[in-house]
Amino acid sequence: MNKLAQDLNKEIQASNPYIYDMLSNIGKELFFPKGILSQSAEAKEKAYKINATIGIAKQDNSVMSLSSVTQFINGIDPDKYLPYASSFGLPELREKWKKALFHKNPSLDGKNISLPVVTSGITHAVSMFSDLWTDPGDIVILPDMMWGNYNMTFGVRKGVKVKQYTTFDSKLSSYNIDSFENMVREEAESSDKIIVILNFPHNPTGYSLSVKEGKRIADILCDIAQKGTNVIAMCDDAYFGLFYEQETMKESIFSLLSGIDERILAVKLDGATKEDYVWGLRIGFITYGFLAQKNSDKICEALEKKTAGCIRGNVSNVSHLSQTILLKSMDSENYLDLKKEKFDLLMGRCFEIKEILKNSEYKDAFDVYPFNSGYFMCIRLKENNAEELRIHLLEKYGLGLISIGENNLRIAFSCVEEKDLKILFDIIVKGVNDLRL
Ligand SMILES: Cc1ncc(COP(=O)(O)O)c(C=O)c1O
Repeated sequence: MNKLAQDLNKEIQASNPYIYDMLSNIGKELFFPKGILSQSAEAKEKAYKINATIGIAKQDNSVMSLSSVTQFINGIDPDKYLPYASSFGLPELREKWKKALFHKNPSLDGKNISLPVVTSGITHAVSMFSDLWTDPGDIVILPDMMWGNYNMTFGVRKGVKVKQYTTFDSKLSSYNIDSFENMVREEAESSDKIIVILNFPHNPTGYSLSVKEGKRIADILCDIAQKGTNVIAMCDDAYFGLFYEQETMKESIFSLLSGIDERILAVKLDGATKEDYVWGLRIGFITYGFLAQKNSDKICEALEKKTAGCIRGNVSNVSHLSQTILLKSMDSENYLDLKKEKFDLLMGRCFEIKEILKNSEYKDAFDVYPFNSGYFMCIRLKENNAEELRIHLLEKYGLGLISIGENNLRIAFSCVEEKDLKILFDIIVKGVNDLRL
């Protein structure tokens, strides 16, 4: 094993041996290479005459560039977007995102979390998480309604098994925490490490936990940890902040799970993708929350180095231009007001759907899954096959929806104007009736 990896492992073991045990085999091997990067950093400081270290081109003391490229990016100095960013991400952006995490999650107050490491979107963060914390044959626990791409990152690419609990009770009245609890307790009995994925606001249903439910899930995981099982809780907060109802928990469950037991590692995956409406810019973050008896700064640094090493060996580093744009956007005076404007628009659509669905004519056609947040909502068809209806709606009425499993349809209200929502549900009912004939 590389000496740098050994040193990081020692730091982690000394602060919290359970976290060391939770690392995958790759995670244990990972380190942040010194090589060219550290020699360049040294030269940047000391090579006052000529610096011939970095693999970029320079001219007249600035980055070399083509005006056919730079003409499209007004207002940002090419030195702020053409050179490589660090594999950890831009330091200023990492600091700013961390500060924002404390602002958005008051329960983090007084807790120690790592500095977020920048990833190329949240999918990339999921993939880096799977490299660092899962081995082939491991089990990840997820609800039976879930973002399909986890099958690719964990199942296909990693050989990890996905085990699913029932998302909602049969009446669709509440999140099925009993089913979650049974599954995690059963897993904890046969394994010394469990991995759970918590995704709220949830894709595909648009459900987020209430304060009470969030606390119950945290209590269950804490109890399992106290009884001697290591718990890794990956919090996929892709749609963070889009919480529309009063009783919904307004912060990430990451903040409840961080720093509560030495055997719990909370990993927050979030990003600008959906929160800041920049899907194609590809900016995500990985942040760690845990309890360490000592040297918590050192263990944070070690985990950040392993994560950045994983990125270095994968995409090397994330778009400098995207990071600079996000940083500038977050620095804008009206940043929060602009976000509030878009939040209000999406919330308006969510409540408009709730209003529309009060009409009893829909009840014959489908049940509605609980929804209160994010981009989506789902319906459960009473008689129709979801894929058959989806194709019928598309071909006869030009309405595009997503079918999931036998009888569920997902509606992304995030991309439907409020005025079109009633039309959308009326078409669904028409389609259901057509197929009944
Ligand atoms: C639950 C969930 N996680 C992660 C992602 C991926 O986000 P990104 O586009 O940043 O990779 C999505 C996007 O659809 C999602 O629904």
